[in-house]
Amino acid sequence: MSQIAVYPGSFDPVTRGHLDVAIRAASLFTELHIVVVHNPAKTPRFSSEERVQLIKASLAELNPRKSLQIVVDTLDGGLLVDYCRMVGAKALVKGVRTTVDLDYELPMALVNRDLAGVETVFMPADPVHGHVSSSLVKQVADLGGTVSKYVTEPVARALAAEANTRKQKS
Ligand code: PNS
Repeated sequence: MSQIAVYPGSFDPVTRGHLDVAIRAASLFTELHIVVVHNPAKTPRFSSEERVQLIKASLAELNPRKSLQIVVDTLDGGLLVDYCRMVGAKALVKGVRTTVDLDYELPMALVNRDLAGVETVFMPADPVHGHVSSSLVKQVADLGGTVSKYVTEPVARALAAEANTRKQKS
């Protein structure tokens, strides 16, 4: 029986922590949709399409087992549960680093279950990635630090290129 799950987030940009959660989750379901969601509370550094491309390039670099079925998609408006309904997903996947993440995620999980009966599966982040966030990675990259421990090569290159473009404009 097909068991589809959706792993949503801003992924601005995707980190090694996100990719680890995605790959582990993909091995639990027949298909995993990583969905770049527009979050109106945030001003993204990369467009949705750029974020999708960076996720695809990162997955290719990590070369996850070919048997893993991973789709990378976008949701630029509307409810996440409507996307789940559209693709036939009954579960959402969320990575949890600390109880702070859980406090943020729990209300969303309960609302998504109220709205459409979509359950949320919380995946504990590998402690190796527990302190990593997209915001910290952007800050370190902006200040000239090395981020290759936290992101894949395509993402590190995109961060450097974007910072360079911004510098030239200012
Ligand atoms: O990576 P983020 O920014 O913490 O991800 C938050 C996200 C995109 C998962 C959240 O904002 C979301 O689920 N947005 C979809 C809109 C929605 O369905 N809202 C109502 C139920 S929570």
